Amino acid sequence: MSKLTEETVKNKVADRVLSMRSSAVRDLFAAANRDDIISLAGGMPDVSLLPAEAVQKAAEAAYDTNRKEALQYGGTPGRPETAKVFSMIMETGGVPGVDPADILITTGAQEALDLLGKTFINPGDVILCEGPTYLGALQAFAAYQPEIICIPFDEDGMKMDLLEEELQKHGKGGVKFLYTIPNFQNPGGVTLSLERRKRLLELSEEYDFMVLEDDPYGRLRYEGEPITPLKALFDQVIYLGTISKTFAPGLRTGWIAAPSAVIEKVNLMKQGTDLCGSTFDQVIVEHYFTDTPWEETLAKFVDTYAERKDAMLAALEEFMPEDVTWTHPTGGFFVWLTAPENVDLVALLPQALEQGVIYTPGNGFFPDGETGKNCARLAFCFESPENLRAAIERMAKVIEDSRA
Ligand SMILES: Cc1ncc(COP(=O)(O)O)c(C=O)c1O
Repeated sequence: MSKLTEETVKNKVADRVLSMRSSAVRDLFAAANRDDIISLAGGMPDVSLLPAEAVQKAAEAAYDTNRKEALQYGGTPGRPETAKVFSMIMETGGVPGVDPADILITTGAQEALDLLGKTFINPGDVILCEGPTYLGALQAFAAYQPEIICIPFDEDGMKMDLLEEELQKHGKGGVKFLYTIPNFQNPGGVTLSLERRKRLLELSEEYDFMVLEDDPYGRLRYEGEPITPLKALFDQVIYLGTISKTFAPGLRTGWIAAPSAVIEKVNLMKQGTDLCGSTFDQVIVEHYFTDTPWEETLAKFVDTYAERKDAMLAALEEFMPEDVTWTHPTGGFFVWLTAPENVDLVALLPQALEQGVIYTPGNGFFPDGETGKNCARLAFCFESPENLRAAIERMAKVIEDSRA
């Protein structure tokens, strides 16, 4: 065996690895750990908002009451007790009646994305998603070499006329699945209207494609009434859930709720991936969602994030040049900002860092890595209202200075 240098490894890795880009922006992010930099970049929930006592109670109960099971391998689909908890969470979130047997527990929704890619995508398959969409979904799917086509959105979510146009090109059965984040989309912050949800499901029947509904943010609504989930409108939808934004991402626990034929095949793929997810984490999750007032805690998250969202929107209004636009989320973590085409927010990132602010440039959320350089995802979830105001003021200055 020869020495495994960068060059020799490059000659040996699978084609799927060669087709994946690494992002230059990551290096800049690594430099962004300075105390004087305000970050609008990450999508991390503020776990300092969690009541320490409740978390400790759940973790201790896992060890004291369920130690033997918690430290042992579990079944590949996950603990039935945890699946019951997820069925309950779905019910309180507007999807009643999901049979816990139709739930497979995953290592976060991220593993669910990978497993669904592994189960369904052949190289060259056409899959559709919002454009821009969640970077982690693009990474998970890209490893299975599909053709990923993005459908633009407006404040009411994915545009159904453009979706239909795309579907017509591929014909019935020509698209394997459509991936959507209908609530407070990442990175767009927009929400798919009820009318469009219904239209999307009609189109899924007419053109015979599967619908993947990824819903990490649905419970983080700051204004207005919840909109019926796709899964509640049509039980054949493949639903991805997670406790990352309602409890703690460090526990790496999510799930897929889907018809049993899907669960069966995904389960087969998961066996090869990790045999089973973390049983210990699942037991903690069970205790947290059954023994602690999690809905009260969630209401506190909502109040805090709502205040931060308002602070960001007010600062954008106050500081951004007139030709810059942004979305107006009613929940979730993100605002999507669009500057004029000639403003390159990738190129401006070093200047932004110099000013003490970092954001995520928009091109990472498109499969070609090129579209969206004049856009950025701004996360309001992690910083205080004062910091958010200062960050937007700095970012506006960077944009203005670039045109001086
Ligand atoms: C839309 C979307 N899907 C999936 C995930 C992954 O979540 P998890 O922490 O459950 O793996 C995220 C995380 O930010 C997300 O925004």
